[in-house]
Amino acid sequence: MAVCACSRKSEEDRFIDDLLSRMTLEEKIGQMNQLDPSWNAEEKEALIREGKVGSIFNIVGAKEVNRLQRMAVEETRLGIPLVAARDVIHGFKTIYPIPLGQGATFNPELIEQAAQATAKEAYQYGIRWAFSPMVDVAHDPRWGRVAEGYGEDPYLTSVMGAATVRGYQNDQMVNDQMVPGMAACVKHFAGYSASEGGRDYNTTWIPETQLRDIYLPPFKAAVEAGAMSLMCSFNDLNGLPSSANHHLNVDIFRDEWHSDALLVSDWGSGSDLVPHGLCADKKDAALRCINARMEMDMQGNIYNDYLTELVNEKKVNEQMINACVRSILRLKYRLGLFDNPYVPEDTPAPGDAELALRVAEESAVLLKNNGILPLNDQIVLITGPLAHQKKEQLGTWVFDGDTSLSITPLMAFEQMVNGICPNGKLIYEPGLTFSRDKNPVGIAKAVAAAKKADVILYFCGEEAILSGEARCRANLDLPGAQIEMMDALVATGKPVVMIVMAGRPLTIGRQVDQAAAVLYAFHGGTMAGPALYNILTGKVVPSGKTPITFPKMVGQIPLYYNRHNTGRPSYDPPMLIDSIPIGCPQFSIGQSSYWLETPTEPLFPFGFGLSYTTFEYGETKVCQSERRSVSENGLSAERSVSPKDGLYTVSCTIKNTGSYDAYETPQLYVRQLSGDLVRPLCELKGFQKIFIPAGETRDVTFTLTDDDLGYWHESHDGLSSRVWFATDDADFRFAILPYSQPLVPKDK
Ligand code: GLC
Repeated sequence: MAVCACSRKSEEDRFIDDLLSRMTLEEKIGQMNQLDPSWNAEEKEALIREGKVGSIFNIVGAKEVNRLQRMAVEETRLGIPLVAARDVIHGFKTIYPIPLGQGATFNPELIEQAAQATAKEAYQYGIRWAFSPMVDVAHDPRWGRVAEGYGEDPYLTSVMGAATVRGYQNDQMVNDQMVPGMAACVKHFAGYSASEGGRDYNTTWIPETQLRDIYLPPFKAAVEAGAMSLMCSFNDLNGLPSSANHHLNVDIFRDEWHSDALLVSDWGSGSDLVPHGLCADKKDAALRCINARMEMDMQGNIYNDYLTELVNEKKVNEQMINACVRSILRLKYRLGLFDNPYVPEDTPAPGDAELALRVAEESAVLLKNNGILPLNDQIVLITGPLAHQKKEQLGTWVFDGDTSLSITPLMAFEQMVNGICPNGKLIYEPGLTFSRDKNPVGIAKAVAAAKKADVILYFCGEEAILSGEARCRANLDLPGAQIEMMDALVATGKPVVMIVMAGRPLTIGRQVDQAAAVLYAFHGGTMAGPALYNILTGKVVPSGKTPITFPKMVGQIPLYYNRHNTGRPSYDPPMLIDSIPIGCPQFSIGQSSYWLETPTEPLFPFGFGLSYTTFEYGETKVCQSERRSVSENGLSAERSVSPKDGLYTVSCTIKNTGSYDAYETPQLYVRQLSGDLVRPLCELKGFQKIFIPAGETRDVTFTLTDDDLGYWHESHDGLSSRVWFATDDADFRFAILPYSQPLVPKDK
């Protein structure tokens, strides 16, 4: 008989309480320690046998994981199993697009499938805990880790992060055996992506309103999706590093969100409190971390080294340690590790290449097309430093990626060429051999080869090492001599299709003007090649949408769509630097919020993406349900007193007016035109990816409650809380759009 959730819960609690009651202080502290192989092997194994390790990470392979697991289960006094963790970020042996590319799919169902397939692969190598998804909302593409998140929007990031959590944690059949899923670890809690200057690990200053409305919602959504763990972030948040941040780790995560998930540090983020300048020494760091309920110490060993002493000095209460260990035991219990600590040592089944292909296809964003795409019977030159790079197309954080599985664009075209090159002849001349290459010799060869081709496919962008952790860039132009190569290719007079593989938006405005078409593929993973072949030849119609704003120049950063209007918006095109009359009076050229070199418009806005067909959006219709006129206590309420009171139904029709059947992603944007605080120019509150056959029309409908429209602010009594001010007068603008656009008042 199925065990109901409540009795399962009490059964779980009984098990944990019983085990905890039998543990010594040393064994409890041992559970709070997570080590990786960079720790001396003999010492690590001795610590495991002494029961001083709760988790291992970066150990891969069922045999090796089982070997260490036997030490914990069969050689320690209580036999508490280890949990093996790994940075499984966007695939395992089979690599999916980087999460930024996954965000571009706007397809959470697909992303959940990808996460589930990833968990299935990782399980067969002994991995039961993934240090992902990263749900840091990113406004700054200089930051290397923008590659690892789902872009700049809290709603999109919330939806995609929750889908990944579900996908990882779903129970599933592996080799004819039903196994528990892999624990997700939602990171980095919190505010890490707001690092000043887009420089990794840097300081973050985030007011509570922005923390609550922008950076925390994806974590809350992941917790509500059942995430089994969260990871502290490296950054200091308003002067207090997250590992020691009681407001984040206890007030919000525990007391407000009521989460019983495990909170693990980032790599040594506990001992980092000393270089941060918060703590005098590692013992002080251990005290600050435990008092902020950081429960497991990744690689810092400060708990093993100092917690016993701190308890004996009565500076730490054992109850606090019990609370931390309870979270650790709960994660292991829910993974089924007490019943079945070992993983089968069968030959791992291959990953799902077909699924990886679909995700790669849906992650590519068509930014420009003058009609050259899709290709037809033409002789094609394949060129550029990323046309045939098995490793680079996988992107960052691919520890276990199997490059032998990679199919590059060149391979895809060579394997599948038929129909687009009657003589079956592809010309391949890389030009540059890697993205930072500055050697012009290759460019000349590519130019010579271009003379024999009808169309040039230029695969450019960033090598994998130029994005990811600590890989921040102060210049977002194409690296190396790729700009010069584009100039040379364009000078041949042949049409150039630019395919960009990168871990972030790049400032490619001039190249976009030069190109006949631009397809932004991010780092598409193992199947990037066939995905791009299918799109370029029209077998698949591109459906990706930008998950992040593409700035025209670095000087515009931070530039994101859901920004405030300011009191001096530049409604009309502002005067740019080259148009300013020499010697003109100071206030003669207007005063509004822009830069003399560029207006506020981006190169490409959030949510943007073209198709091979066209879509026509009907008028947005809004219907508001009757609002309850009285509050719970029977008194008349001027404003909605319940977040579910107000219900808005927003709809429109969308017609496919072109000749290709295709997917489109209508997006619901909202703006509150006045309130207790200024509100963004528009905010994404819903999206649906729908298939519309050529010539046909579909209706799309969204429903919103007051709570969906709520925002955080300090109420008059000084207590900050989440409030909503959905009033009956229509101070909201709603619009269902193909991409983000400021929703300006009707009279503007
Ligand atoms: C790194 C990253 C974190 C990762 C961890 C383990 O420094 O910040 O995202 O999961 O260490 O590799």
